[in-house]
Amino acid sequence: MSKQTQERDRNRISRDEDLADRVVLVTGAAGGIGRAVVQGALRRGARAVVQDLSPSVTELEAEHPGRVVSVVGDAADEAVAVKSVAAARSQFGRLDVLVSNAGTTLNKPLTATSAEEWDRVMRVNVRSAFLLTREAFKIMEQDGGGNIVYVGSFTSTVALAEGSAYTASKGALSQLMKVAAVEGARLGIRANAIAPGVVDTGFLNHIRPDGQEYLRSFGAAHPLGRIAQPSEIADAVLYLAGDESSFVTGALLAVDGGYTAL
Ligand SMILES: NC(=O)c1ccc[n+]([C@@H]2O[C@H](COP(=O)([O-])OP(=O)(O)OC[C@H]3O[C@@H](n4cnc5c(N)ncnc54)[C@H](O)[C@@H]3O)[C@@H](O)[C@H]2O)c1
Repeated sequence: MSKQTQERDRNRISRDEDLADRVVLVTGAAGGIGRAVVQGALRRGARAVVQDLSPSVTELEAEHPGRVVSVVGDAADEAVAVKSVAAARSQFGRLDVLVSNAGTTLNKPLTATSAEEWDRVMRVNVRSAFLLTREAFKIMEQDGGGNIVYVGSFTSTVALAEGSAYTASKGALSQLMKVAAVEGARLGIRANAIAPGVVDTGFLNHIRPDGQEYLRSFGAAHPLGRIAQPSEIADAVLYLAGDESSFVTGALLAVDGGYTAL
């Protein structure tokens, strides 16, 4: 084996273990991207608190006893956000990484969007991230630092027609991330966000029966000619969650097959 290959393998091994013993909290962990993040984090040696509105999130705990703890509930409910962060401390002793990923959407023209619908989207996508960030800051500060990754969207920077609430919520999330990065810097806390293009998950399944098929139809809108697989989004989240990105904070990383480069 050449020296170069040995070096590459050594680097790969260290990357494969780069979250060893880290404690990661992932919201929306029962969904496509969240589940891929959890699986990637576990492969890299982490332990995880997995949070979701869907009780199916408990399956992850059953699959990985001792390494995964689940919290079922609405992440935008203050008590649930507090409980989720506290679970990391009580079950695993600390919280190293928060991945604020839970999200919802709405596809309606502006004039058809009710105040209640607007509030629901902003609540799930922004309020949950704020509450979790606040709670994570409290214990990360005490423990000497941490790392927060938000799952934004291409709509963090560009408009989605018939997506006023969703687009506004993902823009707000990006701005929350920047405040967390600036306030967190002196506490040893990094904060970044990713902005995925369209991803092959069940994200639209609750609003249209052909949700996944519909998402796939967006492939041609991405210069790479296809939509993303959840694992490709998880890889970007885990890059930001690990030490390879140690000088990256306050960044919104496009993971969108070139969608926003057009
Ligand atoms: N799929 C895409 O095309 C796409 C594109 C860009 C960004 N995103 C973002 O990725 C994130 C994950 O979405 P996904 O594509 O994996 O969809 P998904 O529907 O597979 O997963 C979302 C998960 O969030 C959970 N959730 C919803 N509301 C919640 C709440 N109040 N509290 C806790 N959990 C809640 C759902 O139960 C679900 O398991 C979202 O923030 C979404 O906005 C998705």
